[in-house]
Amino acid sequence: MGLLLLFLLLCGVADFARSLSITTPDQMIEKAKGETAYMPCKFTLSPEDHGPLDIEWLLSPPDNQQVDQVIILYSGDKIYDDYYPDLKGRVHFTSSDLKSGDASINVTNLQLSDTGTYQCKVKKAPGVGNKKIQLKVLVKPSGIRCYVDGSEEIGNDFKLKCEPKEGSLPLEYAWQKLSNAQKMPTSLIAEMTSPIISVKNATTEYSGTYSCTVSNRVGSDQCLLRLDVVPPSNRAGTIAGAIIGTLLALVLIGLIIFCCHKKRREKKYEKEVHHDIREDVPPPKSRTSTARSYIGSNHSSLGSMSPSNMEGYSKTQYNQVPSEDFERAPQSPTLPPTKVAAPNLSRMGAVPVMIPAQSKDGSIV
Ligand SMILES: *[C@@H]1O[C@H](CO)[C@@H](O)[C@H](O)[C@H]1NC(C)=O
Ligand SMILES: *[C@@H]1O[C@H](CO)[C@@H](O)[C@H](O)[C@H]1NC(C)=O
Repeated sequence: MGLLLLFLLLCGVADFARSLSITTPDQMIEKAKGETAYMPCKFTLSPEDHGPLDIEWLLSPPDNQQVDQVIILYSGDKIYDDYYPDLKGRVHFTSSDLKSGDASINVTNLQLSDTGTYQCKVKKAPGVGNKKIQLKVLVKPSGIRCYVDGSEEIGNDFKLKCEPKEGSLPLEYAWQKLSNAQKMPTSLIAEMTSPIISVKNATTEYSGTYSCTVSNRVGSDQCLLRLDVVPPSNRAGTIAGAIIGTLLALVLIGLIIFCCHKKRREKKYEKEVHHDIREDVPPPKSRTSTARSYIGSNHSSLGSMSPSNMEGYSKTQYNQVPSEDFERAPQSPTLPPTKVAAPNLSRMGAVPVMIPAQSKDGSIV
């Protein structure tokens, strides 16, 4: 009985050794967001594995609430990869010949939600094999800001701070003093791996350029900080200087704004004057008719004006108006009401007199 069991066991072991086996060990992979994760799964077949080759990759998300999801399948010589919307278009077999024994996949443009356990299952009956890969997607440290919290005066206490905007925990900090050929003050050495360095009773010995490097398992980033420890009086002088400078700048800006504004107003006034002239001037087309109407209505009440005068005015109008027209084209929407009135006036024969009167003191209208 015992012998038979041993025999069966040996057969089993032998059989197992000869059938399909996956040669890459289980492993854990850590990658940064946006990168590509290569998940190896290599296998060997045995002559006894006669069935069709099926390869299946499953994903078990880290929270156990969700069930395993098929993410890519090879079956009947075809690849199917449209199972899991979150990975759509981002999961591929790396080998073009899966039968050669390479079922590895790449997951591209990694997202934090891709974290989980991936399982490679290879079947070629009667052989079966599977292996697991744990993938952890992390965020590299980035957007680090270094700054001095407090005033950098001799005898003062202040802090040097190093703050990354993002980055997966755990984060490691490393301060270094780069410049002034001075070493890190001994009192700070204990804090060189902390996000905050506390300086007590500062001396000029602390002045210099510092770097802070923040790293985690997938990347690192750095920032620089310039520290100038100065005597308090000096500091006050600097501040006073800065305040005076700022005030001067403000006054200057104020002056510039005032001048610009004034100029603009002058310009606007000028334009308004022109505008008034233009409003009552009939369009060039009708001007000839205006002149004719004047000549034709010698006996009108406005006939006291001599034709030569009249000619002079109409000439100046003609010289002005077309250029005005061109300049003011964009504002024409405001003109129509007066434009309508102009031809009426011209028909009445009043225009030739009205125009000169207005062009002289335009704003009085
Ligand atoms: C899979 O990803 C690895 C690592 O990023 C890369 O070297 C390799 O070229 C990729 N293979 C394919 C087929 O995309
Ligand atoms: C600060 O440092 C100076 C000299 O380095 C020393 O004389 C003074 O006693 C210190 N003050 C404090 C409060 O430790």
